[in-house]
Amino acid sequence: MGKIILNGEIKNRSDVSVDIEDRGYQFGDGVYEVIRVYNGKLFAGEMHLNRLLDSAKLIQMKVPFTVAEMETRVKELISEDGLQDGIIYMQLTRGVSPRTHVFPSSDVEPVFVAYTKEIPYTGKMKPGAKGITTDDIRWLRCNIKSLNLLGNLLAKQAAAEAGCDEAIQHRDGLVTEGSSSNVSIVVDGTLKTHPATNLILNGITRQVMLKLCADHGIPYVEEPFTVEEMMTADEVLYTSTSVEVTPIINIDGGMIAAGETGPVTKKLQQLFSQEIERQCGSID
Ligand code: PDD
Repeated sequence: MGKIILNGEIKNRSDVSVDIEDRGYQFGDGVYEVIRVYNGKLFAGEMHLNRLLDSAKLIQMKVPFTVAEMETRVKELISEDGLQDGIIYMQLTRGVSPRTHVFPSSDVEPVFVAYTKEIPYTGKMKPGAKGITTDDIRWLRCNIKSLNLLGNLLAKQAAAEAGCDEAIQHRDGLVTEGSSSNVSIVVDGTLKTHPATNLILNGITRQVMLKLCADHGIPYVEEPFTVEEMMTADEVLYTSTSVEVTPIINIDGGMIAAGETGPVTKKLQQLFSQEIERQCGSID
């Protein structure tokens, strides 16, 4: 631990500081990614790095690095830090420039920062989580993995204060996603999840899970579902880089799936673990 990538270079964390005129610091003017590392290897690394560049493009930020260049640097960081199991956090901001809402001139370079964090692996079959429902008060470009996370933070804090793990957000009764995850339900064996529109972040875990469904004959539809449908669903699950595939067994105090992990969620957890092992090696 203790290393940080600042633009093209790996430095000691203690040698790096944030400029108070970094637009990420002042405006949240930037984008980020979180990539999981198992056995010292990136899980779905290219998908995450491509999404980082897609997010940058959507906020009209020009990035002077390719996916391949970022991947090389990030792998060096993992090796220098000796990271086995954990995450890489990375962000791109629109650079350092005197504060004004208008974008700075094109000679101001974005600032790329990445560092690792160790997270012990908690096992293949995650225990059931608890959720609350909450209004989705965020902006209408949730497909961008933007540094502006206040809506998400307020939702997650409300969940934490209710003793729960995740806030399940909805717009006028239609479930969008969790505060830092995607949410799916299972009804009569079919998985249902919000389509990848501007109202959700198209999670990499979500995409990997849907591919596993397609490859293993688990029926799924990308359609919005209501809070009522969710409360009476056979199974509810949430997915993200940190929670992988995890069942939600209690929402707003009401039990889901009799408080057990349902069969489709169990199958998806198994398939997801196999996918991790295929990409990164054994996780026993
Ligand atoms: N969050 N939706 C939101 C709003 C998220 O913040 C995240 C991830 C996801 C799931 O995306 P993925 O499967 O690519 O991790 C969905 C990350 C982990 C975070 O902010 O820490």
